[in-house]
Amino acid sequence: MLSHLEKQQTVLEIQGQTILKGEVIISGAKNSALALMAGSLLCSEDCRLRNLPSLVDINRMTQVLAALGVKLQRTGDILEINARNIGKSQAPYELVSQLRASFFVIGPLLARLGMTRVPLPGGCAIGARPVDLHVRGLQAMGADVRIEHGEVHACVKGSRSRLTGAKIYLDYPSVGATETIMMAATLADGETIIENAAQEPEIIDLANFCCSMGAKIRGAGTNKIVISGVERLHSTDYHVIPDRIEAGTFLVAGAITQSEISLFPVIPEHIASAIAKLRAIGPKVIIEEPNRLRLIPAPLRATDVETLPFPGFSTDMQAQFMALLTLSEGNSVITETVFENRLRHVAELQRMGADIRVKGNIALVRGVPFLSGAPVMATDLRASAALVLSGLAAQGKTLVQGLHHLDRGYDSLEEKLRKLGANIRRVNLASEEELNSYSTVTS
Ligand code: UD1
Repeated sequence: MLSHLEKQQTVLEIQGQTILKGEVIISGAKNSALALMAGSLLCSEDCRLRNLPSLVDINRMTQVLAALGVKLQRTGDILEINARNIGKSQAPYELVSQLRASFFVIGPLLARLGMTRVPLPGGCAIGARPVDLHVRGLQAMGADVRIEHGEVHACVKGSRSRLTGAKIYLDYPSVGATETIMMAATLADGETIIENAAQEPEIIDLANFCCSMGAKIRGAGTNKIVISGVERLHSTDYHVIPDRIEAGTFLVAGAITQSEISLFPVIPEHIASAIAKLRAIGPKVIIEEPNRLRLIPAPLRATDVETLPFPGFSTDMQAQFMALLTLSEGNSVITETVFENRLRHVAELQRMGADIRVKGNIALVRGVPFLSGAPVMATDLRASAALVLSGLAAQGKTLVQGLHHLDRGYDSLEEKLRKLGANIRRVNLASEEELNSYSTVTS
């Protein structure tokens, strides 16, 4: 019998092995938009963000900001933000626990208000994800930080309540910690230097956004970022970069279905590692104009993949490439070095006939001639994309459950795939008739 909760469930039904064709429009980058939204707390004037993707994670960040007293108005892909009156310095637990990126408000809140309380975000499906590097960075800038009852309490002593510039070496080039420190440093007294900084495109986007408000930041995109604190920031109108992970996912969709598709807009340097791996696997990726890519399919052959901080191969593309390598001739070794628990999609891919063996953080993938459609469960955001990709290539019908993961980070994925010709639809398992026809999903 299906429980009441399961009855409410929506699944993605994919009839595989349809050839895709056409152009897909890539939305704004989720991870950039989330950081920029946190960064808007630094400014007491109007901020306008354009090209914001429609995602559950973005809605949650909007709720976090609203709970702090920020005025927000969304129209299409434009978000107007005014953080003149931050009524509260404490971010609500219910919201922070649902969205790790909302912890990133700690830096701007501390810089603006001189004090804040933000709940620890906790672990998530892909790993423990501590925040020690964020905390140590803020401490180096003069903040008094204590962790009590699951919350990080941070305050800046002294009459001006301002952080002080510092030289900070990160033990690991953490994206979030680099963002937290960079945002906090924009309003600090003096100069902050972040060494071994993360170099991801989202760091550059955040730096550009802050600079568009008058911040003084040099070196974003390299491993050394220098921030000279300013008194205050002013209003801005800013366009979020295209989502490199969404773009990479669609390139894999073309490769795995042996389809010719194009993508626009894309910044090719942002996905250079994924393009290089795709070329090693077989398909051609052609840069047609500065912002358009075309994928020409070809037979797939095995290759090895190791996830690394940017400009290395992104951990956020690992699951999708694993799906592709299950159908590539030969043996591939996939090594996940960024997160300790990011191979949970393996069991689901195996249910579709993939031949994968895991030891620690390494997966050995032996290419098989075909996958067969099956009911599968998404375990995290990028795993859900990997299952959709596998379903597009598999023989027969695949039912992907756990769509709350997918909806966190892919803007209209099935609409975009349908436009390319995929046979994919959301099915609400609410009616008795449908429940019976999909009973295998929960068996
Ligand atoms: C961001 C991205 C996520 C991506 C990841 C790595 C957002 C919203 N999310 O996550 O999609 O997969 O970068 O590219 O931008 N770590 C510590 N201590 C810290 C911080 C991090 O040990 O204080 C560890 C983490 O546990 C992890 C590694 O560093 O093992 C990388 O994490 P980090 O780069 O911080 O990722 P996020 O910013 O959380």
